[in-house]
Amino acid sequence: MTDLLKLSDLSAEEILDILNLADQLKYEKYNNIEHKLLAGKTLGMIFQKASTRTRVSFEAGMYQLGGSALFLSANDLQIGRGEPIEDTARVLSRYLDGIMIRTYKQSDVETLAEYANIPVINALTDYAHPCQVLADLMTIREYLGSFSGTKMCFIGDGNNMANSLIVGGIKMGMSVSIACPENYKPDADLMKWASENGNFECIPDVMKAAEGADVLYTDVWASMGQEGEAEIRRKAFEGYQINSKVMSVAKENAMVLHCLPAHREEEITAEVFEQHAKEIFDEAENRLHAQKAVLVKLMGNK
Ligand code: CP
Ligand code: NVA
Repeated sequence: MTDLLKLSDLSAEEILDILNLADQLKYEKYNNIEHKLLAGKTLGMIFQKASTRTRVSFEAGMYQLGGSALFLSANDLQIGRGEPIEDTARVLSRYLDGIMIRTYKQSDVETLAEYANIPVINALTDYAHPCQVLADLMTIREYLGSFSGTKMCFIGDGNNMANSLIVGGIKMGMSVSIACPENYKPDADLMKWASENGNFECIPDVMKAAEGADVLYTDVWASMGQEGEAEIRRKAFEGYQINSKVMSVAKENAMVLHCLPAHREEEITAEVFEQHAKEIFDEAENRLHAQKAVLVKLMGNK
């Protein structure tokens, strides 16, 4: 593994390796065992969209690993004034040991990785959010003990989260169901791959998709960059909500996950959110541990 651009680039073994290291780093952190595995290393973090969790967990993670992190707002970089990604990649490679980027187009992240000779990490594009799903898988394994025989149901927009959850879930051997409106399905190629490689369905019926689920997952109806469609989407996604009725058809003690930020009474009711706040915030915490594992795998001394 030389970059983390999307989960489909990783084998199941590579994902499990990251999760195992994440568990170890979490244990060490809780027990005050220092792990300065990236001493002297610098991560550049390019942000073209807002962030709370990703920015803070990557930055804190680098410090905990003995390195440092630079927050680079795309508006302040020459990228914002049209300097090509190809040139930015080659320049940053001369200063840094790794680049993390949050942007719109997946192809921009792929181009950055092609031209950089240091590891590149996708911290969210319109297509994928691999760092989030590694933390999600870590959390699922913490709560359920293993992936085998479990079912994850994602309710809502077939967006970056849905795309990455499909790949992560299927690679870990989970059954994956998606409930979404007809015009908001996940990536067609990913769904084809999922159907050929595991137990997968994408249907409009929320209750049917949620039946017997061990994990219920949702995300906002309008992602970053889609603010102008918020009203249309609010209508299109009516009913695509995790609420007590949906919970009643899932497994007893089913987990609820949300990548956050959450919009209460849209994709999830405030009631269900608060009932499941423990796992949702454990999930947010696990961003830190999972990403530290990714950083060590990519930037640590081999
Ligand atoms: N879940 C997530 O990526 O959160 P931020 O947008 O706050 O980074
Ligand atoms: N789908 C959301 C995820 C935020 C973490 C977005 O792209 O805005």
